[in-house]
Amino acid sequence: ADPLADHASSQGFEIGAALAVDHLNNDSQFANLAATEFNASTAENTMKWESVQPSQGNFDWSGADQYIDFARNNGHAIRGHTLVWHSQLPSWVSNGNFSSSELTNVMENHIDAVAGRYSNDVKYWDVANEIFLGDGSWRQSVFYQTIGEDFVAQALRAANEADPDAKLYLNDYSIDGINAKSDAYYNLAQDLLAQGVPLDGIGLQAHLINGQVPGDMQQNIQRFVDLGLEVAITELDVRIDMPASDSELQQQAQDYREVFNNCLAVSGCVGVTVWGITDQYSWVPDTFDGQGAPLLFDNNYNPKPAYDAVHDVL
Ligand code: XIL
Repeated sequence: ADPLADHASSQGFEIGAALAVDHLNNDSQFANLAATEFNASTAENTMKWESVQPSQGNFDWSGADQYIDFARNNGHAIRGHTLVWHSQLPSWVSNGNFSSSELTNVMENHIDAVAGRYSNDVKYWDVANEIFLGDGSWRQSVFYQTIGEDFVAQALRAANEADPDAKLYLNDYSIDGINAKSDAYYNLAQDLLAQGVPLDGIGLQAHLINGQVPGDMQQNIQRFVDLGLEVAITELDVRIDMPASDSELQQQAQDYREVFNNCLAVSGCVGVTVWGITDQYSWVPDTFDGQGAPLLFDNNYNPKPAYDAVHDVL
């Protein structure tokens, strides 16, 4: 009766969740919470390259359309995720042996089709995802190896043409605090802006380990805002070594509180998206051995201490 979304909306803040279409369709508790607790969302998988263009020129809009309809019907601010990424990329792209100009065409066609189709609905696009490694060097993706670093500017320009109103982001993990990797984004963003490339924001994924919110997270957000960009926390979760004890769940609540406060404290930080709703469906246990329970609701949809903490700060 007193959902997070109401508190967020009343202060012009966005609280989002990653939504899997299967759960929207098959789990009414999931769909109800998605509709009531959140005023923003991101498709967890169904707008990724392998989902929408599994083979060249062959577009499958079924999953993406279902997500967009749900989000639109519930008044969500929609974050499109993602246009150019080395992962969940079909092998016809990654092993296609395209020349540089061919791959630019492939990429531009993809962006044009996807961002064009949803240009009335998408507010933010994660245009390029995870382009740097931890030491701040370029990830050796097929895009970087074939085109060079200009693929990022090309992608941003193509997205801007396809959807001139969308806010265009670069998005990555482990750039929540100030470090070599977030420095690489800071430097790239400065370069792109100096060249007049349409870049609007930086997405901090914030896939965090319990008790490890970077102490300089607010400062990091602020430095991007000072460049004239906006910032969003795009994929927040806080993973715990399983089984999670009561004190670990209290620590997690403290971590959620800090992350939300870090964003709320900077006027250019538009909102926080959590990477799922219930611990039951989180990607964390499948990805990080022995870790889990990273979200706001437990396996049975009971709100956790982290939920109360977020409620308290909003
Ligand atoms: C994850 C999804 O949650 C999983 O369901 C899927 O199997 C793999 O991708 N960074 C991102 C997200 O940008 O797209 C990823 O989502 C998590 C890491």
